Amino acid sequence: MDKRQVKDKIEQLSDKLNKYSYLYYVKNEPVVADSEFDKLLLKLRKLEEKYPEFITKDSPTQRVGVKIQSRFNKVKHAKKMLSLQAAQDREGALAFDKRNRDKLQLKKLEYIAEPKLDGLSVELRYEEGVFIQGSTRGDGLTGEDITTNLKTIRSIPLKLNLKDIKHLVVRGEVVMFIKDFNRLNKENTQSNLQTFANPRNAAAGSLRQLDASVTARRKLESFIYEVIEVSDREFKTQKQVLNFLEDCGFKVNPEARLLKDIDEAIKYHDTMEKRRDKINYEIDGVVLKINKLEYNEIMGERSTSPRWALAYKFEPRKEMTVIEDIVLQVGRMGTLTPVALLKPVEVGGVTVSRATLHNMDEIKRKDIKIHDRVKIQRAGDVIPQVIGVDKRARSGREKDFTMPKKCPACNSLVVHEDVYYFCSGGIACPAQIKEGIKHFASKDALDIVGLSNKTVELLYEKGLVKSIPEIFKLTKDDLLKLPGWKEKSSDNLIKAIEECKQATLSRFIFSLGIRHVGKHLAEVLAEEFKDIANLKKVTKEEFININEIGPKVAESIYDFFKSKNSLKMLDGLLETGITVNTGIVEGKLQGLTFLFTGTLIKYSRPEAQRKVESLGGKVSGSINDKVNYLVAGENPGSKFNKAKAKPSIRIINENEFLAIIK
Ligand code: IVH
Repeated sequence: MDKRQVKDKIEQLSDKLNKYSYLYYVKNEPVVADSEFDKLLLKLRKLEEKYPEFITKDSPTQRVGVKIQSRFNKVKHAKKMLSLQAAQDREGALAFDKRNRDKLQLKKLEYIAEPKLDGLSVELRYEEGVFIQGSTRGDGLTGEDITTNLKTIRSIPLKLNLKDIKHLVVRGEVVMFIKDFNRLNKENTQSNLQTFANPRNAAAGSLRQLDASVTARRKLESFIYEVIEVSDREFKTQKQVLNFLEDCGFKVNPEARLLKDIDEAIKYHDTMEKRRDKINYEIDGVVLKINKLEYNEIMGERSTSPRWALAYKFEPRKEMTVIEDIVLQVGRMGTLTPVALLKPVEVGGVTVSRATLHNMDEIKRKDIKIHDRVKIQRAGDVIPQVIGVDKRARSGREKDFTMPKKCPACNSLVVHEDVYYFCSGGIACPAQIKEGIKHFASKDALDIVGLSNKTVELLYEKGLVKSIPEIFKLTKDDLLKLPGWKEKSSDNLIKAIEECKQATLSRFIFSLGIRHVGKHLAEVLAEEFKDIANLKKVTKEEFININEIGPKVAESIYDFFKSKNSLKMLDGLLETGITVNTGIVEGKLQGLTFLFTGTLIKYSRPEAQRKVESLGGKVSGSINDKVNYLVAGENPGSKFNKAKAKPSIRIINENEFLAIIK
């Protein structure tokens, strides 16, 4: 074969295999035997090995991760990823419908309804019909690039079935089927690895694997439901969007229905709730969306959710079981939380063996005793709760739980404030230290991938990491001595630790675990004080002067930066070579917010948005008080009229915009 023939052959094989995959994974209509598929795949792999220059991005061989990444790159989303407003009951759903109809002045309104999947939202980007990038939700504006991992999901097409789509961005959900989740947990238990609390966490854990071959081994499924950007197509309804997605080759939820009014939508919800246990994956409600897209435009969006969609939730799942014991969990700040150890029980396919009891007051109020038969509830991601005691089932063997005088982890005295109990051990308490280290490495803090809670426990028990700065003293040899740690996993963790040293100031502040300082306040402090050195000098009053900080929080931050122990930890950290950058982009559009409507000629919408952001400006998705400029392209939408009513917003055309960013 000459090179041209090889190239053609590779393309032919790719197309054939992609078609077989589609029929098998999306349509559930296999047309060839597995052995035939494997034979063709092997043939293709061999050809590609010999002629790597002809490997295409959509080759089926690229589904199994070839590249191990050290960290995920950040990806700006084409448009902010919104959440959904929720209704817990029928009244909530009726109120949603009434609000819509009042605004649209209609008697009846059609909805598209589909299951609300309890998975992970993802964004997929196709250029010239080929899958080129996929990302996680992240903070809604920026996610993580998990392209390699997403390629291992067979129902995500590497190439679109429609030939003429130049540019396409879609969103959907990745889930793990309950049977695959149970199998994974069983395997993990056998190999002494951490198990996942629910299929959602398992799906998330599987997608955020730096080694995509691990993702490939975990079975994941995708359902796509939204088109964010598309070239050469216009849609009038959600139904058309779903049909288009199906034509492209995506897996669209087969339970999606077009319903003629809210009564039908409520019936759909009730039927799905009854059928919930027969569905292979976790759903926690149904999503209702107004079918006609012109109505969606009119309804518009709030800052975090569209007005045209609703998550109409199911009742949380409940089961009966027995409390075998009540133990205390010691938190990062020393808070002692009573936890019920349950006789394991299946709640909607997921085994539950622990439930939080919150605090002593809750135990008293619900009159919970050890050995009680209790009703427990599990709602998606929330930690299972005990909702009531079956007092008729009491035998006299039940025992009250009493708060011990000493911390179970370090024997320090337990102190008491309102309904909360604390260990007074501080840095002498191993449980508090371990929790602090776990927090430091967690996703929203310094995000040290590979330093899982389980690994932190192990490193602490072995005496290898007994404080946060000691993370940075770990060597590959230390890790190789741990059970189950191999070359690759050790290298990856050492690399992840090295890379986390380039931290943004807000993440760094959050990672310190200052009482009352969550992600948002950490961002506020970073923006306000720009440097750790400055934070050490700030007075209590200066903290209180910041809008979002009250006296209690100010005191906690102040105390942290004056405490000998925290300063020792900070110095220890800075000595490891951590460099903290302010994360603030300097640029000519600093402090300015832009909003776009209509079609731009010179730039695509995402390009224009990226341009603004690269110059330090912000882009808003809707009209609000922060918007300074509305850039109106051709055929502007409803935002144009709304902006006219706000004198603070300057409306400019594309040429004026180009002049500003020049
Ligand atoms: S439509 C506003 N449809 O639920 C965006 N979302 O709790 C419209 N979700 O962010 C989303 N199943 O990630 C839509 N069938 C479904 C969904 C769904 C799950 C997720 C989605 C959203 C989150 C909100």
